[in-house]
Amino acid sequence: MFAEHQRQRQAVDLLLRVAGGEFDAAGFRRLIRFLTKDLIQHIEDEDAELFPLLRAHCRADDDIESMLARLSAEHDEGRPLALAVAEDLERALGGNPLTDPARRKIKSFAAAIRRHLAFENAALLPLAEVRLTARVVAPWARRLSERR
Ligand SMILES: [Fe+2]
Ligand SMILES: [Fe+2]
Repeated sequence: MFAEHQRQRQAVDLLLRVAGGEFDAAGFRRLIRFLTKDLIQHIEDEDAELFPLLRAHCRADDDIESMLARLSAEHDEGRPLALAVAEDLERALGGNPLTDPARRKIKSFAAAIRRHLAFENAALLPLAEVRLTARVVAPWARRLSERR
């Protein structure tokens, strides 16, 4: 998860450069892949695998529900935005330059990913490290690596 978050941080940097007006077709294609595949899959992995594991293994005083409620809500907002940004990038590759509203959307989306990442790195992952033992995580890690 941490490694994926590192990759997401790089994608955020690229999104910000794109929002600033940089155009590079290979970078756009990388971003489209990231937005429509990697990020969507990452959200799915967290919602469907990590969050239920945490619910099952955290203690009442970890206050996990409010944390997961916030993160799930951000996932629900992020998914359609990621796809919308990917469509903007596709259109730009097709010869229609990004409009100012599209660039603003990309900039605020990048900022939202960055906040989400920072919160997960600061609050979620440390808790997962303490509460989820290697034995609990192993089947999930195996499924993840089989898929990639
Ligand atoms: Fe997340
Ligand atoms: Fe994440």
